[in-house]
Amino acid sequence: MNSEKIIELIKQHQHLEGALLPILHAIQEHFGYIPPESLALLAQYLQQTEAEIYGVISFYDHFRLTPSGTHLLEICRGEACQAMGAWQLEQAAKDYLHIDYQQTSKDNSITLAPVYCLGNCACAPSVKVADKVYGRMTNEKLQQLIDKLSSYAITLSTHDKHSR
Ligand code: FES
Repeated sequence: MNSEKIIELIKQHQHLEGALLPILHAIQEHFGYIPPESLALLAQYLQQTEAEIYGVISFYDHFRLTPSGTHLLEICRGEACQAMGAWQLEQAAKDYLHIDYQQTSKDNSITLAPVYCLGNCACAPSVKVADKVYGRMTNEKLQQLIDKLSSYAITLSTHDKHSR
């Protein structure tokens, strides 16, 4: 049950100064997004209004209020990657997928998210999918990666249907 887990995560971090952010990170790490029921629970336990909680969530690009697609594609917006053309890369990804950050492609295969340094600055610009970091990324290589991820998601969902 989501609520029980959310309360557990709140209680684990509630003692910290500025507890809201560590709690939000813990919730998103556990669920992959911030489930809607989190807002009322956070408001209750941290004695803030839901509007205040929502304000913090929507301020940070990192937090998502809806589940991600099959793959989470993170594009680094850190300084080293920006210097090596990350801006063009993120624009190409948005154009190619017809989505903005924190949105999911129509076929539910890819959610696009910004990230601020993947620890791969020497090979900037970098992107990440699941645990794999890809360096020296170009628009062309990114399109190939997106195509691969999309077709893999289609294979997965077809397999799901067949195995029912
Ligand atoms: S700034 Fe992008 S990997 Fe470090």
